[in-house]
Amino acid sequence: MALQKLVWAELAVTDIDQALEFNIDVLGLREVSREGRKVYLSCDIDDPHAQLVLTDGGTGVRSFALGVDSEDELEQFEARLAVIGVTTERRSDAAPEQPTSVAFHLPTGQEVVLLPRPDRPLYRHPGFDTSSQRRGVGPADIDHITIAFSDDAEARAVAHVLTHGLGFKISDIFLNADDEWQAAWTRAGEVHHDVGLIRCQPGASLHHLAWTVDNMEHQKRAADTLASAGHLLETGPGRHGVGGNLYSYLWTPGGNRYELSAEMPRILGERTDPIVRKAGEFDAFSAWGATRPESFTHGS
Ligand SMILES: [Fe+2]
Repeated sequence: MALQKLVWAELAVTDIDQALEFNIDVLGLREVSREGRKVYLSCDIDDPHAQLVLTDGGTGVRSFALGVDSEDELEQFEARLAVIGVTTERRSDAAPEQPTSVAFHLPTGQEVVLLPRPDRPLYRHPGFDTSSQRRGVGPADIDHITIAFSDDAEARAVAHVLTHGLGFKISDIFLNADDEWQAAWTRAGEVHHDVGLIRCQPGASLHHLAWTVDNMEHQKRAADTLASAGHLLETGPGRHGVGGNLYSYLWTPGGNRYELSAEMPRILGERTDPIVRKAGEFDAFSAWGATRPESFTHGS
């Protein structure tokens, strides 16, 4: 029983037309299908499925999906979630041409969908370079999602569901001066984080949705592409202190923050205990001395 990774996220956007213009013309996604006020978009030329679902009205994340290897595994996750008191629901409408999935809500309200993806490639061959076939910013894949919480109890409750219900491991926990959770990074597999948690203002559901870019050269080209279309970065490019991935962040039309992420590290070995660090003793945001912007505690 194993989860693959984040396979899609559904974001609410304030203006679907503006959001589509940005996500298609500037980010370089393509429309896969639409159903009513939902539009399904893909960045991956190898994957027929959508990685992003945009829904008209509001901001933040409505739901996100993790791939599972087979339909049989859904039953095992249902049983595991039931043990910790999480109510699950069988869904037949979570994604186009995806007849079976299991959905439940996190204590912070976001819906998590477990989606059988037996056709997903086992790994990406490094020799198959798709960069010349991408448009705009041209991310290679959806990378990770960082959801918002507003107090310590919420963060711990979400982490409990992810670890005990889904088998996630916590890679890092970052504590504030009061020894409360300021942020945490959790993983489904062997990359440092698939689902992050960052303390934000009450009512927020999303801190950022991250897209995979190839390297620092891609970060530079992406920033140039964004700037020439009138979209300036909130912060970056830089390297995070926790995790160490390369980052750039921007607020996108529609009202949500995206990250462009490269060099996400892999976890060595089978350790399950997180690294715990504290504000004032370690710079979680930047490995290079960049100042975390004031706006970074704000989610959507
Ligand atoms: Fe991130």
